[in-house]
Amino acid sequence: MGTMREIHQLDPLPQHVAIIMDGNGRWAQQRHRPRLFGHKAGADSVREAVETAREVGIRHLTLYAFSTENWQRPGLEVKGLMSLLKNYLQSELDTMQQNGVRLECFGQKDRFPDEVRNMLDKVIAETRECSKLRLNLCLSYGSRAEMIRAVQEISRKCADGELRPKDIDDQTFNDHLYSTGQPDPDLLIRTSGEQRLSNFLLWQLSYAELYFTEIPWPEFRRDQFLAALEKYAGRQRRFGKTGAQIETVHA
Ligand code: FPP
Repeated sequence: MGTMREIHQLDPLPQHVAIIMDGNGRWAQQRHRPRLFGHKAGADSVREAVETAREVGIRHLTLYAFSTENWQRPGLEVKGLMSLLKNYLQSELDTMQQNGVRLECFGQKDRFPDEVRNMLDKVIAETRECSKLRLNLCLSYGSRAEMIRAVQEISRKCADGELRPKDIDDQTFNDHLYSTGQPDPDLLIRTSGEQRLSNFLLWQLSYAELYFTEIPWPEFRRDQFLAALEKYAGRQRRFGKTGAQIETVHA
């Protein structure tokens, strides 16, 4: 399938890719099908994204699967998403273990129905030793809520004398986010045409390359993922330095 050529074009490869999986609903509606039909197709894209990330050697994949605002969707859609999520976790556990995929949840896990949360806890626990790819599912996640939670915890430590305000730095803040211990995303992908961050990883995406595509999430499969990685490989990242400085560093 030309894998060699494709992988050759993926250098440098991002260590960490974050994805806003948008457009399931519109994709389904265009086909005169219920929104849940789009989410089901979207779950297949999730499987393919995880498999592709693992295949090419990406180490961290963070997927925005359910935002704090998504609770406000019609009850039937929320219920459908819950059961999709539970089925996904149930059916993927073996594959994750075989493929070295470690699951992590970013977000308010406690807000999920018991059966979903129990399944999440089980998969998280049973993939703890897996080390090829870290799959972070953002569930009932919002970046501002994540940062406020970090500030509350840091403040508590200051009040208790565990931490001095003047010692708070980037590292301290990182240590109190869901993503603690993982590198920041190098690349953010958002599908389906919208060009917004929508309260996703606002701190962690500070230096990320942004990639927007018109393709709806249910159609974002291996080839589309590889195209995004090729585009990333073609861009030069400067971290606020000049191109010449970067050339020197990498020389
Ligand atoms: C955005 O599409 C997508 C979501 C809100 C949910 C994402 C869920 C999945 C990809 C499937 C289940 C997830 C897993 C991990 C198995 P939208 O409904 O906002 O689309 P629209 O903008 O076209 O309405």
